[in-house]
Amino acid sequence: MRTSTLALALPALASAQQFPFLDQLNPYIDQAKSYLGVATSSVSSAASAASATIPTSIPDPVAAGAATFAATKVDRLTLENHSTLLKSSSPGIEEWMFLVTGGNASCFGMCQRAEAAWNESVALISASSSPPKLAMLDCDNDGVLCAAWALSPPTIIHAFLPHPLPDQSTPETTMRAINLNRTTVTAPEIAAIHLQETYKDVAPYEGFWHPFNGMLAQYGLQVPAGYAIYYFAKIPSWAFMIGVSFISRSVMSRRMGAAPTRPAGGAPAT
Ligand SMILES: *[C@@H]1O[C@H](CO)[C@@H](O)[C@H](O)[C@H]1NC(C)=O
Ligand SMILES: *[C@@H]1O[C@H](CO)[C@@H](O)[C@H](O)[C@H]1NC(C)=O
Ligand SMILES: *[C@@H]1O[C@H](CO)[C@@H](O)[C@H](O)[C@H]1NC(C)=O
Ligand SMILES: *[C@@H]1O[C@H](CO)[C@@H](O)[C@H](O)[C@H]1NC(C)=O
Repeated sequence: MRTSTLALALPALASAQQFPFLDQLNPYIDQAKSYLGVATSSVSSAASAASATIPTSIPDPVAAGAATFAATKVDRLTLENHSTLLKSSSPGIEEWMFLVTGGNASCFGMCQRAEAAWNESVALISASSSPPKLAMLDCDNDGVLCAAWALSPPTIIHAFLPHPLPDQSTPETTMRAINLNRTTVTAPEIAAIHLQETYKDVAPYEGFWHPFNGMLAQYGLQVPAGYAIYYFAKIPSWAFMIGVSFISRSVMSRRMGAAPTRPAGGAPAT
């Protein structure tokens, strides 16, 4: 009962909250919002408008080499290992950068350019004197995590992860979500986030969906929220409508059925 109430309440909460990262589309949250009658741009129309601008991808030996190198430097962030991976392992503050990407399901096949640029930027970033830790999150494979953090691809997350203090408390994590332009992003632009500290152009995110300091994270609700939003988005709208009418009808009939029995059950025994 509690979980089902939670599942229904979360998307409502989601639509009421400011989405920090939703300049671009997050199909999971977009759909969850649309179920609640919140007017949002429709996923399909946005997708078809977007697909008109897909650059034709030409196989590129540079990209292939970059991908091979990137594979050795970039950790894969998943729902299973994100909590162990995203931890500062050494005393002091650790810098992290990760790419949020996706395939056909979560990025409508529009993340190719950003991904290739990221792969090429890995060599540039790794050559710096204090390279950040690098990772990649694929929203097609780990949609739950993307929904939990309200992230839409392609985005770079830049974060400073503090090491837990001796008293086990963890200081606040500074995190920024840097949106990438799917059609124009380049490798030097991504590398500059670290090398020229262009992350400072973006205000750190403080709020509800913050993966470390946010309210959901503090109550351990982020992953359950991710599941709720993710599976909400997976339900076809016709099935959702049938479900709603079924539930409301059975609630109504239970009320109707219960009403006549109440006087009998509640009769005072004198
Ligand atoms: C980027 O590199 C990863 C390995 O880290 C590889 O799986 C992926 O296909 C590459 N993407 C592009 C667009 O080259
Ligand atoms: C995280 O999980 C992915 C997929 O299972 C794996 O490829 C990667 O090596 C893991 N990373 C760590 C640090 O455990
Ligand atoms: C993504 O969609 C394109 C075009 O619809 C298709 O050619 C491609 O095989 C799809 N990729 C995956 C991984 O499903
Ligand atoms: C991406 O860049 C192009 C060209 O500069 C611009 O027309 C477009 O509006 C940009 N898209 C976003 C989402 O900023």
